[in-house]
Amino acid sequence: MLCTAGTGPLPSPLLGKEREPEYRSRPKARETGMRIVVTGVAGVLGGRVAAGLAGRHEVRGVDVVEPADPPVPTVVADLADYEAARAALADAEVVVHCAAIHPWKPYTEEQYLHCNVIASYQVARACADLKVSWLVFTSSIAAKGYPTHYPPAELPIAEDAPVRNVDVYSHTKTLGEETMRYWNRRAGTPTWILRPPTFIPFDDDRRRVAMMFAGTWVAPEDIAAAHILAAEVRPDGVETAFLPQETPYTADDIAEAQAGGAEAVLERHFPGVAAWFRAEGLDLPVPQPFFDGTTAPTRLGWRPQWTPAKWWAEHSEAAR
Ligand SMILES: NC(=O)c1ccc[n+]([C@@H]2O[C@H](COP(=O)([O-])OP(=O)(O)OC[C@H]3O[C@@H](n4cnc5c(N)ncnc54)[C@H](O)[C@@H]3O)[C@@H](O)[C@H]2O)c1
Repeated sequence: MLCTAGTGPLPSPLLGKEREPEYRSRPKARETGMRIVVTGVAGVLGGRVAAGLAGRHEVRGVDVVEPADPPVPTVVADLADYEAARAALADAEVVVHCAAIHPWKPYTEEQYLHCNVIASYQVARACADLKVSWLVFTSSIAAKGYPTHYPPAELPIAEDAPVRNVDVYSHTKTLGEETMRYWNRRAGTPTWILRPPTFIPFDDDRRRVAMMFAGTWVAPEDIAAAHILAAEVRPDGVETAFLPQETPYTADDIAEAQAGGAEAVLERHFPGVAAWFRAEGLDLPVPQPFFDGTTAPTRLGWRPQWTPAKWWAEHSEAAR
């Protein structure tokens, strides 16, 4: 029923060689040596988060399926079962709840409700009962809606933007966020709500590059780095943070791109890149409406390391 995806490094010749994410302007209050439980450890994100935390903390994983290559000792449990969730999270000081299902594989509405709504409720409930120090919840930009739901006049899309989503996955993320707020009100659990855009490790790295220039894809290693930071920085109540791609586009650029001027916008910021896409036989990416990216750098010291500007700096000479 559920998905297991690879947790290995991103095979990405076009994105440059693998490297450790830099943790720029790390907040001073980062904690080490904690007992941390990471859920969804058989998946793309949870596996990377658990592996990244393992050197500095005592880390356990939980997943409903056995990971093929577990990065940390792992308990197999369905987190929608309260007793199983409580047992799996026992003794945790911090819980990073990455487990969920996501539409990059097909699921039924019942599976979405089971894995994303009920399981998130039971995880937050167990965290409250176990008095964990704080919880990190992987939400999504989809909790608010997709970029196309917001006109250029409303950019950047604010952390507290109105909810505009109309699909079940996105709705489960909105409900998940509300569940985190509910348990914070009821039991006081400090909670990070992190909102990544797409970080699917597509096999075709040209697709990832195109989405990076559109502003809609961030490398899974970058998204994992934000979770690692959040696991080590106590949130103040409930804090939300979009984890967007770093792009130079303005609201006027987006309006121009939407009106058919994507090439002019791309060339203004990345001279020569349109020719690169054409040479690769790819459609030009159309820059998309963007999310407010100010919280994650300020509160977590996080910025993506795989960005279109860095990629083009590394590849533009070779492309000429
Ligand atoms: N992949 C993306 O592009 C993307 C974008 C935005 C947000 N997210 C969110 O990021 C998180 C991780 O996504 P991913 O891409 O790593 O997904 P993934 O499918 O690779 O991993 C998710 C893991 O959660 C586990 N899981 C699901 N339901 C469970 C349950 N009831 N009990 C225990 N384990 C359960 C699955 O078995 C799987 O191993 C999810 O919350 C997802 O909604 C993903």
